Amino acid sequence: MRLKHCHNTGDFRELARRRLPGPIFHYIDGAAEDEVTYRRNTEAFEQCDLVPNVLAGVDKIDMTTTVLGQKLSMPFFLSPTALQRLFHPDGERAVAAAAQKFDTLFGISSIGTISIEEIGSTISSPKMFQLYVHKDKALTQNMIDRCKDANFEILVLTVDTIVGGKRERDLQSGFTTPLKLNWRSLLGFMTHPRWALNYLTHERSELSQLKDYISEGTNIAVSVADYFNTMLDQSMDWNMAEDLAQQWGGQFVLKGVMSVGDAIRAVDIGATAIMVSNHGGRQLDGSRSPFDQLAEIVDAVGDDIDVICDGGIRRGTHILKALSVGAKACSGGRAYLYALAAAGQPGVERALGLMRSELERDMKLMGCTSIGQLGRNNLRFR
Ligand code: LAC
Repeated sequence: MRLKHCHNTGDFRELARRRLPGPIFHYIDGAAEDEVTYRRNTEAFEQCDLVPNVLAGVDKIDMTTTVLGQKLSMPFFLSPTALQRLFHPDGERAVAAAAQKFDTLFGISSIGTISIEEIGSTISSPKMFQLYVHKDKALTQNMIDRCKDANFEILVLTVDTIVGGKRERDLQSGFTTPLKLNWRSLLGFMTHPRWALNYLTHERSELSQLKDYISEGTNIAVSVADYFNTMLDQSMDWNMAEDLAQQWGGQFVLKGVMSVGDAIRAVDIGATAIMVSNHGGRQLDGSRSPFDQLAEIVDAVGDDIDVICDGGIRRGTHILKALSVGAKACSGGRAYLYALAAAGQPGVERALGLMRSELERDMKLMGCTSIGQLGRNNLRFR
């Protein structure tokens, strides 16, 4: 199987599964506990039907949208995700370059493996930085200052990782960063020679935003759940979020908002957007899916703030459905991570290209020529 044989997220997933050592694949692919929420994130879209209109003259389609103060060529962007150089040696470099080419947003993670400065100096299109509030206040402050200096337009505060989710696939595989060398990882290296060669011959992947402050995750191998549990500040609250929004002073997003009450508070503290998200089902299993929860949040705050539907997106029709409910844009992690792992920048570009062409085809079939024409009258829930 090769990149040209990948026609959807499932195909990229299969290619990634073949190319990555098991623990790394399962870190991307896995979710919390019974993975009910992870499955529901996509299934929710399947319980909603589209009602097309015809004879609408759809030779020209405008998919541009303005979200987070940025004009994007399409209403889908790449959510910030961690550890990308572990999946492919180009990591964040590949993802950022692909996003720039497609004129859409991407995010760099606090646990990213390419530095804020490198992305700031090489990528001219709009960038988001995803912030974890660490117990070490100087570290949190340092990341914010670096983002300002590197001209990041958007700060995204993740609010759904106050403790680590119980990711049982990681517990089974013993996945840590950096990787622990034991019989299991050596077996993974031997059975995935292409990945192993890349891993061994490229610059060592480090946690570029954190390495000057902490050893855990950079020199001391820890699981992502342990990292959250020991490093992040569990006293984080609305006052802290408000201070961060004020200090940042620009586009400020809360990622991981699920309740209407919290969405309203996000508006009150001056956030400019929320990502309705359950962290790809990786945190609270049993949490509702973003798409199921979208309508009530849009009804409450959709006129005051940009509402983004994050998670479960695998198809152009999923984006179409979320926009019809009232999301300003959609975003996803695995939707491009499998493609990154499968084939680096050409992989991410193919994933974005497929998503874009599906969405364009779907809009034509729906009889819509611009995003503004999508509405709830296009939808029926079973
Ligand atoms: C995860 C974090 C790092 O879900 O975002 O693994």
